[in-house]
Parts: sequence; C-alpha cells; structure tokens
Amino acid sequence: TLVEKHSFKHFMLKEIHEQPGVVRDCLQAYINSNWDLEFEAKTTDELHPATVDINQSPIELGLPDELLENLEQVQIIACGTSWHASLVGKYLLEQLADLPTTVEYASEARYAPSPLRPHTLIIGVTQSGETADTLAALSMEKQRRLNAPTQFKPRLLGITNRTESSLGQLVPHLINTRAGIEIGVAATKTFTAQVIAFYLLAIDLAWRRQTLSQSRVQELVKGLRKLPSQIELILNTQEAKIEDFSHQFSDTKDFIFLGRGINFPIALEGALKLKEISYIHAEGYPAGEMKHGPIALLDKDVPVVAIAMPGSVYEKVISNAQEAKARDAHLIGVTAKETLEESDVFNNILPVPLVDELLSPILAVIPLQLLAYYIAARRGLDVDQPRNLAKSVTVE
Ligand code: G6P
Repeated sequence: TLVEKHSFKHFMLKEIHEQPGVVRDCLQAYINSNWDLEFEAKTTDELHPATVDINQSPIELGLPDELLENLEQVQIIACGTSWHASLVGKYLLEQLADLPTTVEYASEARYAPSPLRPHTLIIGVTQSGETADTLAALSMEKQRRLNAPTQFKPRLLGITNRTESSLGQLVPHLINTRAGIEIGVAATKTFTAQVIAFYLLAIDLAWRRQTLSQSRVQELVKGLRKLPSQIELILNTQEAKIEDFSHQFSDTKDFIFLGRGINFPIALEGALKLKEISYIHAEGYPAGEMKHGPIALLDKDVPVVAIAMPGSVYEKVISNAQEAKARDAHLIGVTAKETLEESDVFNNILPVPLVDELLSPILAVIPLQLLAYYIAARRGLDVDQPRNLAKSVTVE
C-alpha cells in the first residue's frame, strides 16, 4: 500500500497526528457503543429497560471464553516500544483484573524460559508482527506447552496492527489494534494503540473476574472515550510551544526521564524516542530509584523530564523532582494544568489535561513524542530512518 506524508514533513509527525483517530477507531471497534449510556439510564431510570444488556462486559474483543476464563497469570513477550506498552499492560492487568503478570524481553525469554505455570495467558505484542525474537519466544512457549498436561496447554494471544503478519500465523487469537501501517521507525501510533488494547483487555478481564465495580468500569469506559479529543487538545495547543521550546536542547548530551507507577513505562518510552531519533543519550528511570544511581549524573547540563500526573504517586514524583532540582538540573514537568501552582518546582511545563491516573499514560506520552521529534528535526536528522535502526527486526 502506498502511504503518503501529505503536508507533514515526516511520517513520524503524521503518525503522531493520527493518534486521536487511531484511538477513537480502536475504542469504537471494541466498546459496545450503547453500554455506558444504557448503564447510566439503568441506574437513574429503572422504568425504561435497557436495549443493551448491561450485565454483559462493555468490551467486545471477539475472544473465546476458553482463552480468558480461569486464568491464574499472564506472561507478556515483546521488544522495544512494544515492551513498554506491555509494562503499562502489566500494571493494568494487575491493578484492574488482579492477575499476576510478567513482561519479558523476547530476546531474553527465548533462552531462559520461565517455569511452566498452569492457566497462563501468553501475550505477544508486536507492531510489525515480524520481530524474530518475539516470534521465536512465542513459538517456544507454544511448543513446550503442546505436550504438557491440560492445565499447561498454550493459550496464546497476539496484540498487533498487522494481522496478516507472521504473528497472525503463529497465534490463534489476535487483538487488531487497528493502528494501520506505521512508516516512521520510531513507533508512536502503534504504541498508543497497543496501550489501548491493554485497557480493553484488562477491563474485559476485570469484568469477567468481577474485580471492579460496575460504576468503576463505567468511569473507565467514559474516561477512555474522552482520550481522543484530549490528545487532539494537546496537539492543537502544545505542538508549536514544544517546537519552540525544543530549540534550547540543541547541544544537550544527556537527558533523564522520571516516572512512577503506571507512568514509569512512559519515562522509558520518552527516553527511547529521544535516543532513537536524536541520538541524545537518555535514560528512563522510576523516579524513586534516582537516588540509587542516576542522581550522580545530574548537573545543570542534564535536563530532567518528570512525569507528574495527579494520582497515587504525584507527591512522590514532585519530591523526587525537587531532589533533581537541588542538583541544578533543568526540570521539565509533564503534568496537568490544574496542578500548575503546586508544581512550580518545574522550569518548564508540558501540560496535559487532568484525567484518571490510570488513563494518564496515553496523554503523557504525546508531549514526549513531540519533544523527541522536534529536537531531532531541529538537528536536521533523518527522523523517519534513524541510523542503525530498522522498522522491523527480522533477524535475531
Ligand atoms: C524495532 C523498531 C522499534 C520497535 C521494535 C519492536 O527496533 O525500530 O520501533 O519497537 O523493533 O518491534 P515490534 O514490531 O515487535 O513491535
């Protein structure tokens, strides 16, 4: 298929801008469109029967019950940016669906298989569906479980935007993230779409396992539906500012990204985006671990990006950021506008709308993608084809 850049300078920028549409499309495809309306009507007006059965899960992934019932744990296998999406997925599966979850690098898992555990859902996450390590680790899991007793039989699920890929041949069930083909080597829209797939899967499993109240499910579904316009808002109001702001980093050699909880993987992803396309050394770290090493790197020449989204670890991240500031670091905060006063610790703010902490990774990643893009573009680098990297790595 011929994919055009249209008016965008690079595919990466075009794909960043496609995210509201991709998220909207994915939510529309898998959330029963009347469920939350009916749920609301049912709870306020008992007289009018709902046309949608609100006792059914609002999420319709089209996966068979045998795949998802009686699970004891989840094992996720991925590489690169897909591995970061999987870390968000782990957080959601554990916190929402009460399922112990491991996330393995495919290149590690294939040579050190974890002990066989019964009733395990194995999920392979890959945008290309062709990453050699991911395919090899998944087929190893499949093979070693085929001859095992029933409780160990393989339950394999793929999360991808390329259903026609080798992953599609290897695993019997897929969640199509519907992100479409991605050209820019640095993954953007495929990442957000994978994370959305994890929200949907975690909510569906939470529903099946009855680990969340109906009203909490409703709150999350409502929150998910608002994300596309919130991403649009960030793009519309922040892009020019971020472009302008990125100029000051033209000589920067190192960056640190900090996050905690569900936004720790976003710190990893922000750092990865930056190093992939700008060739600036960047490390993502859980903010509370900074004192065990990275703090030694800090001085006025090392900007620190702290993802400080209101929620369970907000104050903790702010106090970690203050520790960085005390070492003269230039502090950039990804935070909600509503908390600007409290967060005057930051030298610069990349504001995003205030949302449920659990949904915040989808918004927090957007300014970080733009920051990486504009720093690299300003350096005149080949953003879509960075040196030494490939869109899909089909060799070991
Ligand atoms: C390559 C790409 C990355 C991607 C990784 C995993 O390194 O450059 O953007 O995250 O492979 O790819 P996958 O297709 O398995 O998601």
